[in-house]
Amino acid sequence: MGKLLRAVRNLSVTAGAIGAAGVWYRKRAERHLSMRAQTVLVTGAGSGLGRLLARGAAQRNAAHIVVWDINEQSARDTVDEILAYGVDASYDVVDLADDESVDAAGAAVRQRIGGIDFLINNAGIVTGKTFLEQNHHDVERTYQINTLALYRVTRQFLPNMVANNFGSITVVASAASLIGVARQTDYAASKWAAHGFMESLRAEMRHYGHAIHTLSVHPFYVDTGMFDGASSPNVLLPILESETVVHKIFRAIESGKRQLILPSTAALAKWLQLLPVPVADQVSDLLGINTTMDHFTGRTTPGETQS
Ligand SMILES: NC(=O)c1ccc[n+]([C@@H]2O[C@H](COP(=O)([O-])OP(=O)(O)OC[C@H]3O[C@@H](n4cnc5c(N)ncnc54)[C@H](O)[C@@H]3O)[C@@H](O)[C@H]2O)c1
Repeated sequence: MGKLLRAVRNLSVTAGAIGAAGVWYRKRAERHLSMRAQTVLVTGAGSGLGRLLARGAAQRNAAHIVVWDINEQSARDTVDEILAYGVDASYDVVDLADDESVDAAGAAVRQRIGGIDFLINNAGIVTGKTFLEQNHHDVERTYQINTLALYRVTRQFLPNMVANNFGSITVVASAASLIGVARQTDYAASKWAAHGFMESLRAEMRHYGHAIHTLSVHPFYVDTGMFDGASSPNVLLPILESETVVHKIFRAIESGKRQLILPSTAALAKWLQLLPVPVADQVSDLLGINTTMDHFTGRTTPGETQS
């Protein structure tokens, strides 16, 4: 009994020391990044989180905010909102699924304002279909916008960041990039790939000594309309408010954080990976994860965008 108590005490002292070292290392690794007087580009900034991110950059007195969206009217509306804050802004109509469209818009931005200091890869789409309902176009379009666009867009602006040894790249992935979810074989997989892209980009920046900040954001469902009909499975995973999500994204960028999981309880998905698969599946089902898309409709509000 005495031995067991000693073992438990030693274990908790070790866990405490590892935890304290983790907090110390995180604090040391974090740095303050300010958008004031910097250039910012947000993809999918015509609506939802993207528009709020563009607005937040204006509230932080960025020098110039570039709005990219496939929908011209909504991009123009976001720019008008930014200009009302007295901050410079411009937009490009871009189809992120198309190489030529992204190349042309990237060249136009470089000519207009030079480089981008803060790149926020935010645009994304979802079909919400079961695997048997999807066709190849659904899958390809999802990967084009949620995954391949990250390569296209980052390629436009990373060289200048590396030359300046300064910059920040954010990707809005999803909590679904940490776990599998029914009706998301296309969406979740494309976000797992986005997550892998960011993990490797961060490693590469570190390995080659480039001081470029990267942040992956992993939100559970947010009230933007994109996931209309999806439901919260339990109190640990509420539907998030978009204003709160965006506030936390800015706090994460500004403090140099590298990964943001929202709500923090969604990080449970990472721990599930450590369990034997049948146990992890049981826990996921008990938490109701696979029922969340049962009544998914996607955006139904007229006039809003879905490419
Ligand atoms: N809403 C959620 O519940 C939720 C949850 C987790 C992660 N996310 C992710 O957050 C990001 C933003 O989501 P949101 O809810 O604000 O979505 P949204 O649908 O409100 O906005 C997406 C924007 O991207 C634009 N867009 C779509 N396809 C495009 C293309 N081919 N080229 C250029 N622009 C294009 C749309 O026009 C739209 O303005 C997405 O990456 C999404 O996957 C959303």
